[in-house]
Formats: sequence, C-alpha cells, structure tokens
Amino acid sequence: MRSFASDNNAGVDPRILAALGAANQGHAIGYGADEWTRRMEQAFREAFGPETRAYAVLTGTGANVLSLAALLEPHHAVLCAHNSHLWVDEGGAPERFLGAKLIPVRAKAGKLQVADLAAELQDPKDEHRAQPKLISVTQATEVGTLYSLAELAEIAAFAREHDFYLHMDGARLANAAVALNCSLAELVRGVDVLSFGATKNGLLCGEAVVFLRPGLDRRFKFLRKQGMQLISKMRFVSAQLEAYLSQQIWADNARHANAMAQYLAKAIVDIPGVELAFEVESNAVFVRLPTALIAPLQAHRYFYVWDERAAIARWMTAFDTQTDDIDDFVEVLRQLASQQTLPGPAPHSPPLHEVCP
Ligand SMILES: Cc1ncc(COP(=O)(O)O)c(C=O)c1O
Repeated sequence: MRSFASDNNAGVDPRILAALGAANQGHAIGYGADEWTRRMEQAFREAFGPETRAYAVLTGTGANVLSLAALLEPHHAVLCAHNSHLWVDEGGAPERFLGAKLIPVRAKAGKLQVADLAAELQDPKDEHRAQPKLISVTQATEVGTLYSLAELAEIAAFAREHDFYLHMDGARLANAAVALNCSLAELVRGVDVLSFGATKNGLLCGEAVVFLRPGLDRRFKFLRKQGMQLISKMRFVSAQLEAYLSQQIWADNARHANAMAQYLAKAIVDIPGVELAFEVESNAVFVRLPTALIAPLQAHRYFYVWDERAAIARWMTAFDTQTDDIDDFVEVLRQLASQQTLPGPAPHSPPLHEVCP
C-alpha cells in the first residue's frame, strides 16, 4: 500500500529501471570514467548552462555537505533556515565533516528573508566571530512552500553584495520548477552550488552536486572521495541521472506529484477540525488535525507528525501516488473525524513558522 510518509518511500520509475538495464552490459571503467557519466555531465550542461560541472553522489545529505565543503574555509559559517534539512536532519554530518559553524535563521513558512539574514552579518575583521560566508536556501522548502523567482533574486543580490556564496538544497527542485513554470536554469539563477535531488522523484538512488560558476569545483573530486561519495560503479548512478534529465522524467513526475498534493488538499477542506498549516505549493500537504485522529490514521496509511506540539502532520505525495490512494485516505479521515467530538487544534499551538530552535 502507498503511504503519505515521504516521496522517498515510492518505488523506482520504470524508465529509470530501463536506463539501469541498458547500462547493465559488459564492463565499464569505474569511478566515473565511463560513457554514461560523460552523457550525464552533458545532460547537466544542457539543463543548466555550458559552464555547469555536475558530480554524482548517493545521498542528499552527502550532496549538501560536500557542496558546502567545496566552498568553505574552517572559520566560515553557514546561514540556513531553522527548519532546514542541514540544520535539523543531517545527524550532525555538516558539523562533523565541515567543521564549520551552522547558524539557524528563523524562516517564515520555510523561507529565509533578507532582513533576517542581514541581522547575522558580522564585522569581517573580527576574528572572534565565525564569519558567515554561505547562505543555504531549500527549494521547494521543508514545508512544501516555494521561493518565488523574485524572492530568490533578492537573496542572491544580498549574497553578492556581501560576498557570500549561495547554495540551494534542491532535494525537490523539480517540484519547484514545474510549480513555478520555469526552467531548471531559471530556478538557480544567482546560485553558486546546487544539491540536485532526484531520488525523491523516481530514481533508485542518485543525486548530484552541481557547480554553476566556473572554478568552484577546483577541489571537489578530492573532497567527494574523502567524503566517501565516490561511487565505484558510477555508470549506474550516471545512467539514472542522464535519463532523468534527458527524458524529462523530472518534469513528468514532479507535475504528477504536485497535482496529487492539490487533489489531496482540496479533498480535505471541509473536514471539521482539519486545516492546512501552509500553502500547498509543491508535493507536500501540511495539516493541523486533532491529535486523537493521528494514530488511527497513521495505522491506515503511514505519515509523519511534523510538529507534535502544534499537532501538524506532513503528507507527501509522490510520482506514483494515485487518486485512489487519496480517496481511500480521505475517506478514513472523514470517518474518524465524524466519530468524535473534535476539540480542534490546541488554541495555544503556534503556527509552525513561529516555532524556532
Ligand atoms: C530538503 C531535503 N534535503 C536533503 C535531503 C537529503 O536526504 P538523504 O540524505 O536522506 O538523501 C532530504 C531528505 O529528506 C530533504 O528533505
């Protein structure tokens, strides 16, 4: 049964399996010296521009940490959202591997604001302070919202003005691009390095670190090896990424997952005690719901509780979510809701964007 826990709970797109099958012939030199990797690199140049340098890795955490490692020195600090994957969900990998300081910045509906970033500026001559040098934005955000192109341009201009690098965690970049109706290249304007996600949108496994300005990847191949993300049978990861880009799998799958999130959001609007916690802009539906409904609903189709204090759950749709899955889930939710006297969301619960570390 398909759940709403995460888009990475979905299986593998059959077109990706076909690409893996096609790559599974004969021998090929390992570690990326193969024709699939060359084609993958070319596909990234076509999608993001001729100066692009793309390197396959296995995990999103690896992509994030290595992206930052390529650009930072030990006295630098990273400004990231208080609910970013980097800050919350990487098990301390950035701190351990980078040895650099992360500074969580309050995000409103998942999005960093220039005024809050400006408050973190340090005197660049003060050796007592770790020096912020990189801003990391997540697109789509952790709560499924989107930075508009104008909002991104504003952050990029701030980064340029203060000589910061701009990193984008694009674990769900495809969902953002189709929702904003723009190309992948337009979405990363002003970004220096991108964690390009694909596993959540149909791959078996494979992400990429994508450098968008010449010269920034100078040390990267060594860092990737030291960071244990240099894959020996690279052709199989490269073949997936190449198919994902060149066959427009990214766009097809993201469009479908986003449409399923809209379908789910519309289906619950009239259920008493259930309300959206954030705008549904990509493939995530965040809802506040009565606490008593959570466990029985999870037992039917699993999902995560995002914020226990505020009783906010996260329902993710994926490339393979079907309307039948949603109809069935919503039917059970309706039954549960009708069986009880609903207290509604706890009155003291703050909205998620006000919950800061
Ligand atoms: C925003 C974001 N970034 C990065 C990741 C990378 O995850 P992983 O290291 O599990 O591949 C995830 C996965 O949940 C994510 O949601």
